[in-house]
Amino acid sequence: MSYFSRAGRPTVPAPATRLSAQTLPTLMCLCAAVLGPAGQSAKPSPPAPDCARLACVALTFDDGPSVATDSLLDDLAADHTKATFFLVGQEARYRTKQVKREQAEGHAIGNHTLTHPYLGDLTPAQVHDELAGGEQAIADITGTRPWLVRPPYGNQSAQVASFGHPLLLWDLDTLDWWHHDPAQVLSRAAAGVRSGSIVLMHDTENQRDTLTAVPQLIRNLRNAGYTLVTVPELFGAAALKPGTAYRNRSSATRPEPQPQPWADPLPTTAQDTAQDTDAAIAGTVLLRYHSAAATGPAQLAQAVGGLRPGECRNVVQPLAALAGAPAFALRDDTAHGIELYDQRDCSHQVAANTMAPGTEQDDEVRSFKVH
Ligand code: NI
Repeated sequence: MSYFSRAGRPTVPAPATRLSAQTLPTLMCLCAAVLGPAGQSAKPSPPAPDCARLACVALTFDDGPSVATDSLLDDLAADHTKATFFLVGQEARYRTKQVKREQAEGHAIGNHTLTHPYLGDLTPAQVHDELAGGEQAIADITGTRPWLVRPPYGNQSAQVASFGHPLLLWDLDTLDWWHHDPAQVLSRAAAGVRSGSIVLMHDTENQRDTLTAVPQLIRNLRNAGYTLVTVPELFGAAALKPGTAYRNRSSATRPEPQPQPWADPLPTTAQDTAQDTDAAIAGTVLLRYHSAAATGPAQLAQAVGGLRPGECRNVVQPLAALAGAPAFALRDDTAHGIELYDQRDCSHQVAANTMAPGTEQDDEVRSFKVH
């Protein structure tokens, strides 16, 4: 099955095929409706942390539930941590047990549409149906209508805003769907977390590896002085306005914790020999997907950030079923330039094997490496 629709957008396989199709990355889940205050927990809980005084961070997990969700919930429970789950309605209907567990254990639940489409390609009526369908799926399971919405891929439009719910985005993307490396989850969080941050991860089947980083991520954040909260707790009494997008808690009142040493990365087999410093990060590569459709948006660009010199990246993996999919181009926005390979493991350079910073190229590229 092609991972792309004719319009060049990632598609969500039908529920009956999701088990195997979940090996596909949740590409570009530049992926927020969360249960309102009444739906945050089914049982009494202690007073919420005051994020006007504390350095709070909200962990969010998109695109579930999946077969990976129970293990994540086990880890969160063991660490006494509450998170926020932005659910895809059709997945929720398929795994009601996990949804009820999320609710029972005090996590916040938000609406991530019914089938996870790129809303920018849909008609206003279709946008409404996706958002209303996701909301209804969650309400049918939890008995509570989610208040917070996270549109897939962070897509915002007048139609999405007009649905009448706050749009909860993120300011720290772990890029878990891209690198599948728990060590990178930790290093990216260390580099990007701020008081008031909303952290984006995914609890899909193909993110099982990166989800193993969650216990260490929680320890690291707490050791650094952060308090982990749900998205509703992060904003507390601050009124979230319908149709308004939020990426983090307002910086106006947020305190910063005293810098603390960040714990060593996970004991992992992942090889990451580059220094975990901003200086070692070479820049960003954009994978630009061209649509063959005559109408509609022509392309969608996806940033892949945090590349380090000498690091090899596979293009094919995120593109998944490339055969028959729209063409794509790499755009090199690194400060170093990149080398192009026609094998998936950076083992055979293509004839025109380098790109200069700022250039863009269509090619038989299967992987690339930053100079
Ligand atoms: Ni998503």
